[in-house]
Amino acid sequence: MNKLYIEGNKKLNGNVLISGSKNAALPILFMTILTKEKIELSNIPKLTDIRVAIKLLRSLGAKIVNTNKILYIDPSAINIYCPPYNLIKEIRASIWMLSPLLIRFGKAKIFFPGGCKIGLRPIDLHLKGLIALGAKIVQKDNYIIASILKPLKGKYIHLEKISVGATITIMSAATLAEGLTIIANAAQEPEIIDVAKFLNTLGAHITGAGSNKIYITGVLKLNGGYHKIIPDRIETGTFLIAAAISKGCIICNDTEPKHLENILQKLSETGAHIQTGKDWIKLNMQEKIPKAVNISTTPYPGFPTDMQPQFALLNSISKGESIIIENIFENRFAYVKELIKMGAKIKIKNNYIICKGVQKLFSKTLFSTDLRSSATLILAGCIAKGITVVNNIHHFKRGYESFPKKLNKLGANIKYI
Ligand code: EPZ
Repeated sequence: MNKLYIEGNKKLNGNVLISGSKNAALPILFMTILTKEKIELSNIPKLTDIRVAIKLLRSLGAKIVNTNKILYIDPSAINIYCPPYNLIKEIRASIWMLSPLLIRFGKAKIFFPGGCKIGLRPIDLHLKGLIALGAKIVQKDNYIIASILKPLKGKYIHLEKISVGATITIMSAATLAEGLTIIANAAQEPEIIDVAKFLNTLGAHITGAGSNKIYITGVLKLNGGYHKIIPDRIETGTFLIAAAISKGCIICNDTEPKHLENILQKLSETGAHIQTGKDWIKLNMQEKIPKAVNISTTPYPGFPTDMQPQFALLNSISKGESIIIENIFENRFAYVKELIKMGAKIKIKNNYIICKGVQKLFSKTLFSTDLRSSATLILAGCIAKGITVVNNIHHFKRGYESFPKKLNKLGANIKYI
């Protein structure tokens, strides 16, 4: 069951419920290692990556009850500081266990994390941040051994490169370090704000999250608490693209429009009619052919790299020529050859692609390579002429809850085979 069978020529219309944010839920799950008190989390998305994170926490000794709505976590019995290799390797997010385990036990041993093959995915900035706070880091073969002889001390840390992951690693370590830590050139993604809000709920003192300078005053311990995960802005953007490419009209509910300002700006440039409310966004393509738009991915609040493949698909069937520049990851165009198989006119240059819009894509047998490109190929199948088969669909299950089911409710016809 690792293939999808997708009938094409569909117009996608209707309401879709957006799930909780994968990239907020994953770090927040690992931050629970910082406390011994009980935690309740809601709006946790049902994703493969989340299941791996829960397995990792249980492997450390955490007690977790996963009801349909609330995740109950009791981290008090966590007594292992070296999580299992086979689980660590499955997700990039496992790097966020390093700092909490180090703080909790004074030592940690974790293998290099896994994740989508969209680039080298180094962790040097995570390690430099922990060293700046006073940790000792030894890298051996493919794992890291971290240790601290005395409590970490707050520092001024300027990130040489904007990194979501490293910002979260340093912020989490600083919550229980002595004194003030300032993270300069910090990532500003909404997921960072959500992690900071969660840590503050537990008793941390973090201000400035969401700006490029975050201030963390260390505390002695963290307590328990409840937190609702923010909506997934990339899932939202993906469904808005579904409406635009199929000339349909989709309303995304339970989402946060202010997290998608740049995406909505670009979508309105295509000629889409967009309306927003407190927790919903409506995109109506009004049967029009979209106009192609130029994209250059940058850290938030710029255009998100996680929406790059979806916009390449949109540009492939839009009017005109466009350029998409990928500035964040070195290898995020693997899906382009699959779109070219379907008849897309795309040229790959170094870190950019040139798209020339075509009238129609044609169904083919496609092979996904990573999470966002997998979702993009599924959407391509929904509008192509004929029946498309998409392989390696385990990729999309990492980041899109019930994606085929949500699309079928909007008029798609997708079956597992
Ligand atoms: C997070 O990845 C997200 N993943 C990614 O989403 C997202 O694309 C990315 O942030 C950028 O927004 C999760 O939250 C689980 P980074 P992360 O550290 O933290 C370089 C998805 O599809 N870098 O912001 O790994 C790095 O190579 C995924 O949901 C270093 O050089 O990204 C990249 O070029 C894909 N050294 C840039 O910084 C480091 O120590 C940004 O990476 C860390 C990163």
